[in-house]
Amino acid sequence: MRVRKARIDDSKEISKLMVDTIKYLNSKDYNKKQIKVWISKNTVARTKEKIGKRKNMFVIIDDNKIMGVGAIDISGKKITGLYVRYNRQGGGYGKKLLKYLENYARKKTVNGLKLYSTITSFDFYKSQGYKKIRKVSHVVEGIDLPCVLMTKKL
Ligand SMILES: CC(C)(COP(=O)(O)OP(=O)(O)OC[C@H]1O[C@@H](n2cnc3c(N)ncnc32)[C@H](O)[C@@H]1OP(=O)(O)O)[C@@H](O)C(=O)NCCC(=O)NCCS
Repeated sequence: MRVRKARIDDSKEISKLMVDTIKYLNSKDYNKKQIKVWISKNTVARTKEKIGKRKNMFVIIDDNKIMGVGAIDISGKKITGLYVRYNRQGGGYGKKLLKYLENYARKKTVNGLKLYSTITSFDFYKSQGYKKIRKVSHVVEGIDLPCVLMTKKL
């Protein structure tokens, strides 16, 4: 198991991982309209754009496959888009990738992080030491995606 930076040629695999996880997992907590608009933000083209622009997107690899993806915005002190393959949940990939992102932030002298947790991942982040600040709404193309703002001191 290893973590490395995401590359442009990972776009297709990363997009599929995110879309499947949203479709099969997040759909427990969000309705069809919400899932549809969320998926539309994670197409191969959008993923390619994000990898090119963000630079700080990482993937966790096992069995020669991408098992999870997550990004960190150092200037905004924010974790974004942490997803684990829908059929490999609970295998420790999310925790390992999150720890990696936190250590990466520490090395850049960031002393605290925030994130907008989905309803689905709230208990995961709580178990990793993140504290709820408040509920927030992400409005995407007029559709409200409820999330929870959480923070952690590093
Ligand atoms: C959140 C997510 C990334 C966690 O990844 P994962 O690989 O399944 O998590 P792990 O196996 O590393 O779990 C780590 C710990 O969190 C706990 N945990 C994981 N999911 C949990 C849940 N839904 N409820 C409670 N605890 C949970 C585990 O018990 C484990 O505890 P431990 O520290 O005692 O070992 C993954 O569930 C996911 O892809 N969720 C859907 C996508 C999503 O909503 N992403 C958030 C975008 S902000």
